[in-house]
Amino acid sequence: MKIINAKSCQEISDIATSIILKQIKKKKNSVLCLPTGKTPLLMYKKLVQLFHDGKISFEKVLCFNLDEYYGLNKENKNSYHYYMRKNFFNFVDAEDENIFILDGMAKNFKKECDDFEKKIKKTNGIDLMILGIGENGHIGFNEPEGSFLSRTRLVNLDISTRRANSKPFKSLRNTPKRALTIGLKTIMEAKQIILLASGNKKKNIVKKAFKDKINKKIPASILQTHKNVTAIIDFKI
Ligand code: F6R
Repeated sequence: MKIINAKSCQEISDIATSIILKQIKKKKNSVLCLPTGKTPLLMYKKLVQLFHDGKISFEKVLCFNLDEYYGLNKENKNSYHYYMRKNFFNFVDAEDENIFILDGMAKNFKKECDDFEKKIKKTNGIDLMILGIGENGHIGFNEPEGSFLSRTRLVNLDISTRRANSKPFKSLRNTPKRALTIGLKTIMEAKQIILLASGNKKKNIVKKAFKDKINKKIPASILQTHKNVTAIIDFKI
């Protein structure tokens, strides 16, 4: 486990961007898995800038996303489909057929999740997985107490996650109760993982995830057993 101490969220984003750039330079058709949320916003901004400056192309890159709220359609402004378009895909040359985001409206969610796993397998695996972390230790939407062997599936969101994510939904009542998420086992199969965490609100959980014993109460703690994980953080643990 490697930890990189950055001074700010901007610096976290700069470092994450340079890791992505290096990966794509090494392999044009790299397979990425991408997060949403507040933390990676500056990273996407920087990637868009690099694309405009002609320093990076996503034309051949395969982009998977970690998760999506269940019950939200792609046009819903709070969906992760919308987030990805608004913050990233609308401004770069990623091809639609190379973008894979779980469909939150899938009636047959089991098939949707199994197909997602199959698509990942077909690529020969994720080269670079970019993660945020919830204040409860979730990665993707793998909430506390879930199995370390989990695959892509429908999950119930923790009340703490719903509270943390409730702002754009205006109330906790309107905040989705379920989501589709890639599993912990799927995350662990990525060849390289970077985890981004910014601000003191994340300090305790990152410390627990990387310094305490591995336990299901803190899903991110399983990352301790991965061969190539880097946490990029702007606080000391
Ligand atoms: C989002 C995701 C979540 C977030 C986490 C942190 O796709 O998978 O695990 O990364 O909830 O969110 P922020 O960055 O908003 O604190």
